[in-house]
Amino acid sequence: MTKNKNGGAPRAYRSATEVVIAGRDPFEFEGFVNTPIFRGSTVLSPTAEQFLNHSGRYTYGRRGTPTTSALSEALKKLEGGAGVVLTPSGLSAITTAFLSVVKSGDHILVTDSAYGPTRKFCNDILAALGVETTYYDPTIGAGIAALMKPNTRVIFLEAPGSLTFEMQDVPAITAVAKKHGAVTIMDNTWATPLYFKPHAHGVDLSLEAGTKYLGGHADVNLGWVSATEQYWPKLYDTHGSLGLCPGPEDVFLSLRGLRTLAIRLAHHMEAGLKVARWLAARPEVLRVQHPALESDPGHAIWKRDFQGACGLFAVILKPCPAKAVAAFVEELELFGIGASWGGYESLAIPFDVTKFRTATKWNPGGPGVRIHIGLEDLNDLIADLERGFAALKAAS
Ligand SMILES: Cc1ncc(COP(=O)(O)O)c(C=O)c1O
Repeated sequence: MTKNKNGGAPRAYRSATEVVIAGRDPFEFEGFVNTPIFRGSTVLSPTAEQFLNHSGRYTYGRRGTPTTSALSEALKKLEGGAGVVLTPSGLSAITTAFLSVVKSGDHILVTDSAYGPTRKFCNDILAALGVETTYYDPTIGAGIAALMKPNTRVIFLEAPGSLTFEMQDVPAITAVAKKHGAVTIMDNTWATPLYFKPHAHGVDLSLEAGTKYLGGHADVNLGWVSATEQYWPKLYDTHGSLGLCPGPEDVFLSLRGLRTLAIRLAHHMEAGLKVARWLAARPEVLRVQHPALESDPGHAIWKRDFQGACGLFAVILKPCPAKAVAAFVEELELFGIGASWGGYESLAIPFDVTKFRTATKWNPGGPGVRIHIGLEDLNDLIADLERGFAALKAAS
């Protein structure tokens, strides 16, 4: 769909247009607008020679189908890298990215704000393979230079952290990595490549849980990793060796989600910010952690590097008993109590990261509730939160 009808080079379009047109060629499929679901393991070759040389466009279902190509080509366009691999979950995107670049004896630096299962993978699987992990303060910026060792192979970033929302100075960290010959990997699930382009800020491997906003309807498990030219061959090869392939239905649903991603994200951002401001003014709230709020410590970096925000942020309540926090979230009718996020529905979960943090102390001054603002009417969401606060007060 990105052909220039008058011939010549394909036109450059903005991201909101790319999500609609990228990876799609209706006339390859009799004019049908959407690439169909291809299911398959065996792919037949017309000749023995083609089979032996693996020279067909598709060779085996696990290694790709027209449906997976449609999604990976579209994501490649949005990421601006050399290639994208699809994985069955966001977590498998994280593990694949690491395994494509580390070896026994390496040292890696991982942000203390990383998604919990990322830490578990480093602490269990990578440790058993002889890879040593040091966690670092997410706000360290160029100060990360002091943590580099001669064998530091990877710096892993996640900005903002998806529970605590600290921003990271990505260009400062990638500059240090480049100077030391280390690879940077970034979990960009919060911003998506529509609101932050990791490769344009020096990141080598950019990954995302498509389970969240790409799917957008809480019915998909999928991840992807995008690599620069330098790291693409190793990423592609590792992905093949690990035998990863997402299910065809999930790939199709991700393609469908992609087409409305820009417009959904714009709504999540606007509604999320309105609710965040409303919450920040409530007497029960100590502070709201949302990088797009002017009051947030990470706001200047967010403004400098990001083009937008999603609907996920945290509220720190004034000190109150755990049963009052439970009463708050349980009273809400429109906010579900559940992990994952990025779907059309609002969510609210209590959280406490004091148990996993090792490089930094998490001492926010009160209990935390992570909020995801979905696509419901804003006034209804605010009325629901008001009912929640009444329940919190009654249980305090
Ligand atoms: C920031 C972040 N990265 C990765 C993941 C993992 O995604 P998945 O659940 O698809 O494995 C999650 C899931 O909550 C997440 O919040």
